[in-house]
Amino acid sequence: MADPKTDYAEPAYAQHQDKSKVPYYRSNLDDRISPDLKELLETYSQIPRDQQSAHIHRIRDLAWAIRQYPCTGSGGWLKPQLRQLPIYPEILTRAKEGATIIDIGTFVGHDLRRLVYDGASSEHLWGIDIVSHWDVSYELFNDRSRWKGHFLEADFLTAASSDAFAPLRANTDVIVISQVLHQWVWAQQVRGATALVALTKPGSLVVGNQMGKPDAGEVVPAGFTVPLYVQSPESFAKLWEEVGAATSTRWETQCWLRTWDHIGVDSKESAFMGPDVGILEFVARRTD
Ligand SMILES: C[S@@+](CC[C@H](N)C(=O)[O-])C[C@H]1O[C@@H](n2cnc3c(N)ncnc32)[C@H](O)[C@@H]1O
Repeated sequence: MADPKTDYAEPAYAQHQDKSKVPYYRSNLDDRISPDLKELLETYSQIPRDQQSAHIHRIRDLAWAIRQYPCTGSGGWLKPQLRQLPIYPEILTRAKEGATIIDIGTFVGHDLRRLVYDGASSEHLWGIDIVSHWDVSYELFNDRSRWKGHFLEADFLTAASSDAFAPLRANTDVIVISQVLHQWVWAQQVRGATALVALTKPGSLVVGNQMGKPDAGEVVPAGFTVPLYVQSPESFAKLWEEVGAATSTRWETQCWLRTWDHIGVDSKESAFMGPDVGILEFVARRTD
């Protein structure tokens, strides 16, 4: 029987948080604005460097008013995460060849913009999120009239069978899902990964990052009231074995454990997540 404490589509801790009471809201994000983002904003978005700080802080307030995730507060989205993955060159090559790429939990679509800046056409890019951040996204990147990609407001756990997802079903080449699956306990992560399988075909990739640690297990970060299952490379492989067996598909996984500094977040400030908790970068490749 479903446990309402752990079987949620999106976490309650990201709704109605007081910024003065959480350990992850930083009023000044200046040192988080990465050289990558500065270049992207200047060249792609035509926002001069001396206006970028005010721009970013205004956008963060708009995003914080929608949802209050730790990464929104701490500026985790100010460094391109997809581009950090060792497999990024393959993803970019596929993107330039017209692959269908979806970013689940896309937030402001920052990783999709990086693909476009690096040479992909936006037409085959899809950003999916349970709550629209689209206006904030267009404002951040100043590309409302240029963006030819797709944004869908949907809970991916239940929407994969909907009409809106029809072009993606069994037809997606790369699914990006960063900082999303870790919001759940093991059973919900299995449910989430299983929902993704319906969108894939042999050769598809599921890539991204999430909280990770050398010894997998449930963690309740400071200030949270629900446990999250933090994966290790081994448990992540087990998850895809379980999902593969349930869906008659086969998956090979590759993972890298990193510290938070790797994505521009100070490890000391991330200590509230618990000892040894860092970032797990991952690739799950569908082989059959
Ligand atoms: C922690 S943020 C991560 C944003 C971005 N992927 C990143 O790594 O910077 C999680 C995002 O996933 C979205 N989300 C949470 N649950 C979802 C669900 N069931 N379906 C679709 N999006 C979801 C949230 O609204 C939020 O934008």
